[in-house]
Amino acid sequence: MRDTEQDAQRLLNGSVRRSYDSAVDIDWDAPLEDGKYFLPPNLSALYDTPLWHRMTPEQRIELSRQELANLLSVGHWFENVLNQALLRMIFDADPASRHTHYALTEIGDECRHMLMFGRLIEKIGARYYRQPRAQLAITSSLPRRLRGLHLWVGALIGEEIFDTWQRKIMDDPGMQPVVRRMMRIHVVEEARHIQWAREGVARRMRYASWWEKETIGRMVGFGGQFFSDQLVHRRIYARAGLNADEAYRQAVANPHYRQVKQEGFDKLRRFFDEQGIFRGKARERWRQAGFIA
Ligand SMILES: [Fe+2]
Ligand SMILES: [Fe+2]
Repeated sequence: MRDTEQDAQRLLNGSVRRSYDSAVDIDWDAPLEDGKYFLPPNLSALYDTPLWHRMTPEQRIELSRQELANLLSVGHWFENVLNQALLRMIFDADPASRHTHYALTEIGDECRHMLMFGRLIEKIGARYYRQPRAQLAITSSLPRRLRGLHLWVGALIGEEIFDTWQRKIMDDPGMQPVVRRMMRIHVVEEARHIQWAREGVARRMRYASWWEKETIGRMVGFGGQFFSDQLVHRRIYARAGLNADEAYRQAVANPHYRQVKQEGFDKLRRFFDEQGIFRGKARERWRQAGFIA
């Protein structure tokens, strides 16, 4: 238990040193810059496809706007799920413990992130992507299901893959400055969340029951395809003014995008390997979803 308190204290110290408030740390009044992308072209699911080669620079930029709005919409519901699960986790916890204090600090970070994502969707002139009804039935039940090991593993799936991409976006001079700024803020604060979730996984794996380990394999297996479906769907292409069916077919078959997903998942895959998280059919499912070569 002492380890948990020390880990939480370290993260609390980090939170005091470096935290942001997008209301003052982002210049929302600065106009968008002409000709700049909202996501790097080579992170697009359509990059280097036959369709991509037919698109004008303006169409590619519009696609990047829609792909970013989609990612921000996913981030918004994901962080909502995480916050609900964290609030449940500490419902019965000691309010004086560092662990509770850090949970509340992270919940505060995620509240500011959700606000920042929403403002950015508006700023880039896009609309959010509502979750389809069938998906909503699953995601709205997640806060009750994500506990213990499942919570930490679920948090990492949502946080680590985006982290890899966000680091590329924040360093890319071809991006809209407001997008780069937002990514930089998010990367700094998420680094603490990722560390906490990784420590949570390592700690839980030391004393998890057989059943907890078995079910984590199933949850992770399901997560691969679910996550992949969030990144590529027809509504993005329809809003970008493309033929949605053609774009969807080319995106799911795009070898370049598989590579992007594999690079994004690489750090987390290694950690899951070290911790023995891939059980049952989990690895196979992530391979089918294109995140593992
Ligand atoms: Fe966040
Ligand atoms: Fe987070």
